[in-house]
Amino acid sequence: LNYLTPKSRQQVLDLLLQGLKRLEYRGYDSTGVAIDGASAGDDILLVRRIGKVKVLEDAIGEVCRGEGFNQPVDIHIGIAHTRWATHGVPSEVNSHPQRSDVENSFVVVHNGIITNYKDVKTLLEKRGYVFESETDTEVIAKLVHHLWQTHPGYTFGELVEQAIQQLEGAFAIAFKSKHFPGECVASRRGSPLLVGIKAKTKLATDHVPILYAKAHRPHGQPFPVLQAGSDGSAEFQPLEHKEVEYFFASDASAVIEHTNRVIYLEDDDVAAVKRDGTLSIHRLNKCTDDPHIREIITLKMEIQQIMKGNYDYFMLKEIFEQPESVVNTMRGRVRFDTQSIVLGGIKEYIPEIKRCRRLMLIACGTSYHSAVATRQLLEELTELPVMVELASDFLDRNTPIFRDDVCFFISQSGETADTLMSLRYCKQRGALIVGVTNTVGSSICRESNCGVHINAGPEIGVASTKAYTSQFISLVMFALVMSEDRLSLQQRRQEIIAGLSQLDEHIRSVLKLNSQVQELAKELYQHKSLLIMGRGFNFATCLEGALKVKELTYMHSEGILAGELKHGPLALVDDEMPVLMIVTRDPVYTKCMNALQQVTSRKGRPILICEENDTETMSFSTRSLQIPRTVDCLQGILTVIPLQLLSYHIAVLRGCDVDCPRNLAKSVTVE
Ligand code: G6P
Repeated sequence: LNYLTPKSRQQVLDLLLQGLKRLEYRGYDSTGVAIDGASAGDDILLVRRIGKVKVLEDAIGEVCRGEGFNQPVDIHIGIAHTRWATHGVPSEVNSHPQRSDVENSFVVVHNGIITNYKDVKTLLEKRGYVFESETDTEVIAKLVHHLWQTHPGYTFGELVEQAIQQLEGAFAIAFKSKHFPGECVASRRGSPLLVGIKAKTKLATDHVPILYAKAHRPHGQPFPVLQAGSDGSAEFQPLEHKEVEYFFASDASAVIEHTNRVIYLEDDDVAAVKRDGTLSIHRLNKCTDDPHIREIITLKMEIQQIMKGNYDYFMLKEIFEQPESVVNTMRGRVRFDTQSIVLGGIKEYIPEIKRCRRLMLIACGTSYHSAVATRQLLEELTELPVMVELASDFLDRNTPIFRDDVCFFISQSGETADTLMSLRYCKQRGALIVGVTNTVGSSICRESNCGVHINAGPEIGVASTKAYTSQFISLVMFALVMSEDRLSLQQRRQEIIAGLSQLDEHIRSVLKLNSQVQELAKELYQHKSLLIMGRGFNFATCLEGALKVKELTYMHSEGILAGELKHGPLALVDDEMPVLMIVTRDPVYTKCMNALQQVTSRKGRPILICEENDTETMSFSTRSLQIPRTVDCLQGILTVIPLQLLSYHIAVLRGCDVDCPRNLAKSVTVE
């Protein structure tokens, strides 16, 4: 939304496409854009395509050629979207923006799911609306249109305010309308949404007050009285700035190249930008603990951080960033000289946590594996029962939760729907909620009682890598904090802290295996399956390695607990089946060697991941990847990296799109 300098519609399109490319990693089966017509009163121009942003870009190039697209216009609003289908197959008509009618009177982009869309649809159909798509989103555009027809005189913001009252489910939505030129309205519930503000000169304020509607506006009556603040003392004061550009986006990476000043909207906020360049935030209902303002915060994220640099893929860049990202996770928290660890975000809650009944670690995907990886250490250093749960299964079981439970929600994005719903489930039952996320301002972050930011930096590749190692370290740091005053555990703590201090160097030497791993990938990439075996502290690496192989290469892969070998998986082993085994000199070394011998005696030819110079172990195989020795409970950080690299190289050799694997999304904000 530009009020800064006159731009042409072509420039608006370029800006939107650029923003979409930054967000493409979130979901990408179809894309679309809506911008103003050539002159006032013209229909909104809608272009939608199946496929990636590039397809849309080419289509726009054709549709928009030579129609005055390079003429400067004063004020303009454009909305754009990348879609990952939830209702209705990927198709042009199911892509967003969705529209109210053939004239494109109201158009909307939407992330999330409207769970009561069938009821709303039936209601609107009775009023003569004809639906063209199979999406839940179309009801939103048509509902606003219906309200506009039945409530003449309502502002655009009021129409949206009324509409969201009738919607159930999760949404981040942004509207544009032919009837409200130069205006844009956006709202959210359950899905992330922020406003980026780029002003030519300094803003006079660092917050925007919320305006509460005192009462619902009765049909045909004048405007509802708006009051700011709980006592009405603050003045009705939208953010006003002469030369300003506003961006609504679901993720900061879409706007960071334009501005680092953002407002994170809260559930049910309705943000409206008007023709005069003002931004106001409205709410229909006041909630008691609402701060009555929305702060404008300054993001520290840099554009370089989200660019690929010299790497072919974000994933490879992120794998190679791990020596730095693990240090960033520990920065300011681990004091190697005094052997002390401070986690500022949960410090005050530690006494309460120490009194708890049990620790629950709840997450999905890779984040879940970080919980599996650290469970044993948490049990050892806290001496508490530790339960590790997949969020979806946890919810399916209606798991009993008590007031004296401490529940950790681990999520890179901080937005994963199942994890977030589990959080709300536990919060409702009075448990203490600890968030472990990589995304400041995310829903999990905001809804937790306390937490740890893993500070791994933006992760763009759909397959998680550096977030995993940082989540791992965050949980190790927590275990260390919990055992600070336990005399009997001091020696153990010291060896772990020493291990942490060498971690970046150790990771650097593991990364040197890259070309060796690439050679291995050449040997493996045409196979149908890969079994990854290990146990103890390395079991999580097997699960995580197999997940990486599956999601990136579409090859079958299974993480197998070596202790279960004889209970089934051994039947898969022959001289053809690729097997990778992790055997490090930890308390389960002898048991792992047993498994190794069982595999070789079934003619299996395992590839080994083992410790440097461990000739005894290496004598069992012709191919081994040697990693530095570290303390047992941190070994999983080093053993997972060759598997991240292996999945990457196999994916490249198989011609797969490394950063955007088919059918997957970075952030799964639906159940
Ligand atoms: C998706 C991503 C995974 C991620 C999982 C959990 O499946 O593709 O990489 O591990 O969601 O996401 P979260 O953001 O909660 O860590």
